[in-house]
Amino acid sequence: MDTFMTMLAALLSLTIAVASQQLVFQDIESQINQNNQVENNKRSLKFNFTSVAPHIFSSLHGLLQQWPNTFFPNGHSIVPCEIPSYTSLYHGRRDGDLPPSPEWFGFDVEMSYGIMGSDRNSHLLTYQTTRTVGCLYFDGESATLMGTGQMDSLNLFIYGNLTGPPGNGHWRGLFDEYSRATSICKWVEDRGLGGLGWGVEGVVRMNAGFEMIWCNFTSPSIRLMSKLNVTAPLLSNGLDLSSYRSSVFEGTEDIRTNKAETQPSNSYYPLPTETRNPGHSTDPPDPPRPPNWRRENQEPFLESQTWGWFESAIWHYGSSAMGPGRGETRVKPLTCGFLSFYSPEFAEQHLARFASEKLKLNLTEDGYWLGPGNNGTRERGLRELTIRRRSHLLHNISHSDASIMNQAAERALRNLPYGDHNDRYLNSTAGCSGMDWSNIAAEIVQRYAARLRRLRSILEAGTGLDTRNQTAFRQWTIMLRHNTHSLLVPYFEYPPDPRYTIDDTWSTSSALAHATLSRCQFHYTRLLAPDQISYLNPEEELLKSAMEDILGNICQTVVEVGFGAEREWFRHFDSVNGNIELDTQGMKISIIRWKEGVEELMAWLGWVDQWTGCDNRCRWDETCFIPMWPFMWLETGKASSRSGMDEEPPHFLPPGRGHPHYGHPGYGYGGRPGPGGHPPPFFQDDSQLWEPRCVKAGYML
Ligand SMILES: *[C@@H]1O[C@H](CO)[C@@H](O)[C@H](O)[C@H]1NC(C)=O
Ligand SMILES: *[C@@H]1O[C@H](CO)[C@@H](O)[C@H](O)[C@H]1NC(C)=O
Ligand SMILES: *[C@@H]1O[C@H](CO)[C@@H](O)[C@H](O)[C@H]1NC(C)=O
Ligand SMILES: *[C@@H]1O[C@H](CO)[C@@H](O)[C@H](O)[C@H]1NC(C)=O
Ligand SMILES: *[C@@H]1O[C@H](CO)[C@@H](O)[C@H](O)[C@H]1NC(C)=O
Ligand SMILES: *[C@@H]1O[C@H](CO)[C@@H](O)[C@H](O)[C@H]1NC(C)=O
Ligand SMILES: *[C@@H]1O[C@H](CO)[C@@H](O)[C@H](O)[C@H]1NC(C)=O
Ligand SMILES: *[C@@H]1O[C@H](CO)[C@@H](O)[C@H](O)[C@H]1NC(C)=O
Ligand SMILES: *[C@@H]1O[C@H](CO)[C@@H](O)[C@H](O)[C@H]1NC(C)=O
Repeated sequence: MDTFMTMLAALLSLTIAVASQQLVFQDIESQINQNNQVENNKRSLKFNFTSVAPHIFSSLHGLLQQWPNTFFPNGHSIVPCEIPSYTSLYHGRRDGDLPPSPEWFGFDVEMSYGIMGSDRNSHLLTYQTTRTVGCLYFDGESATLMGTGQMDSLNLFIYGNLTGPPGNGHWRGLFDEYSRATSICKWVEDRGLGGLGWGVEGVVRMNAGFEMIWCNFTSPSIRLMSKLNVTAPLLSNGLDLSSYRSSVFEGTEDIRTNKAETQPSNSYYPLPTETRNPGHSTDPPDPPRPPNWRRENQEPFLESQTWGWFESAIWHYGSSAMGPGRGETRVKPLTCGFLSFYSPEFAEQHLARFASEKLKLNLTEDGYWLGPGNNGTRERGLRELTIRRRSHLLHNISHSDASIMNQAAERALRNLPYGDHNDRYLNSTAGCSGMDWSNIAAEIVQRYAARLRRLRSILEAGTGLDTRNQTAFRQWTIMLRHNTHSLLVPYFEYPPDPRYTIDDTWSTSSALAHATLSRCQFHYTRLLAPDQISYLNPEEELLKSAMEDILGNICQTVVEVGFGAEREWFRHFDSVNGNIELDTQGMKISIIRWKEGVEELMAWLGWVDQWTGCDNRCRWDETCFIPMWPFMWLETGKASSRSGMDEEPPHFLPPGRGHPHYGHPGYGYGGRPGPGGHPPPFFQDDSQLWEPRCVKAGYML
């Protein structure tokens, strides 16, 4: 009995201890929350969400990469580019002719065959560039023939407004493509920025993969390498084989009897010599439909054709949560001529965007985030901030703004060595610093995207530390120091006495902190500062300032957390005069501050494409899928193929099934030309973008 009572008493006191501990803990938490709200405006880590720097930087970083431009499909930037000599270009057709002008090139044969293959008269033409070719690139999913905003930058550029000439108010799918192609080529020609064999000769855009509008096929900058009839014999079910057999037989006979004998097996193949000029292209009466929209049962290769196109697009995913990756490397952006509708020049749009984001995202007049408010969690608020660039449209670009962009592009292209017919490279640095901005942006994202995410995880773990356990705090601080130190090491040296004047040394207003911050922030651009260089063109000036703002905020956060970690370390865990006892509750308040600072920095940067990916590594016969027009939605309700061998992997949905509007009259390729058609609401179902899944090769139909 005694024993029982003792046990009961012990149990009771334990319960009370636990309960009071919880009480104490809840107290701290609510105290922290109150402090937070009170001190929100006094925080040292505050980010200006009105700034265009993160948008300019991300746009620069995403250039010519499939993955980032799929997450942010409404292009804002226009960049001169070039394509090296001997680059293969492909053109698919549904007749045996040479292409009229302008027409399209794919950089991957899978894209050209993907659009034009599996027809009864499919042809594939391979070309190669004979010299470095100049081009102009529109970022985003600028060749996506649906949606709200993907085509806006090109339309604004050509027509000065979003709709184009009267009569084109309806969504007409492919039809307006020829009008756009002709207009952009005419723009180049009229301004003397390119022509046969010189200057800008093509316009690069993206949907599932990169393509190029080629202005004139008689240009000496390209050479026809082969022209093949790639029509395949139909599957025989239900077909009258008699006529079909004889036609195939004739062809084979031809090769056997005539060519096989005159040509030894190890010789070079003969280059085609056709040189007709088929003149100007016209709207096709029956534009091709994407292969995954077709249902011809007897075409034997429709499935692999579809998969091939999709697969070739993912070769150019580029930088993503899965790692750095290669984008469309055959096109080199000339970032010295980087132009963007995000430029502060377009003030009207900037003000309109700020007005709407201020309400939607709960920002102050200074652009600072006020917090999630009562209706919503911090997590949801941060998420809205992180993805804010995805909903940016060009609707507040006026006609005069569009012409400003037009003139800027003309000036930028003229300053590039494009205008020079022969000695293009003699002056290749004229007006340009020579800085490879794209590469630097890639380096910055590579260095910081994963590390900031990891820093956030460490800080999250820190908020859960047991306040009674000093050992746990010590171990955690060691881990934090390892991480912040690796971020700080290129910019900082320990003072000789880090343990003596702890507060002075490790304060963020110390001389050491200022020096560290400056080295970090101007790591890439120091030599472009006014004391080093007398002139930077406006395009590079914009990139420089965006990059310095990006690094400024990253570095400030890293210095704040890193110096804080050093301060706590030398004060409590590795002190000369015996460790001052750690105030674990005070430390926890700091950890929460740091965590919130890193979270808000990540939201400000908006690199959501770099933090979104397939959760598991896909198997060899699988790939990580995100919806890219025209490959838009997987069947829903099916488990990912990762979860079990027996389960059927997800399928691509044919048009009109499962997704409202898609493929209905007036909504894209399939439904041309649709009366009263508007582009379908593109942002309606983003779920498969935010939670990418592995799909099995070949399951596109
Ligand atoms: C925030 O950025 C905007 C746009 O660059 C600028 O106009 C504004 O002054 C900035 N706010 C602060 C507080 O610096
Ligand atoms: C291409 O081949 C297909 C099938 O053999 C044939 O029907 C078609 O006429 C050929 N096209 C040309 C232009 O020769
Ligand atoms: C392409 O160039 C040729 C030769 O200068 C010219 O005759 C033709 O009109 C041009 N085509 C287009 C579409 O501009
Ligand atoms: C858009 O631009 C085109 C060509 O510049 C013009 O014909 C048309 O009237 C404009 N539309 C509107 C609504 O301003
Ligand atoms: C904005 O944030 C503040 C502070 O968290 C909050 O009081 C307010 O309700 C929020 N406003 C909206 C519209 O969410
Ligand atoms: C609260 O949030 C929901 C969903 O985000 C939204 O539909 C609703 O309008 C919000 N209510 C207020 C009062 O802001
Ligand atoms: C911006 O564009 C939207 C949509 O077209 C329009 O409703 C709004 O009035 C515009 N704002 C300004 C300041 O022009
Ligand atoms: C190179 O640029 C300079 C300055 O813009 C100019 O004076 C010079 O003639 C150019 N050289 C060539 C070969 O175009
Ligand atoms: C304190 O934390 C350390 C490290 O996490 C752990 O090993 C230890 O068991 C904890 N001590 C107590 C009393 O919980």
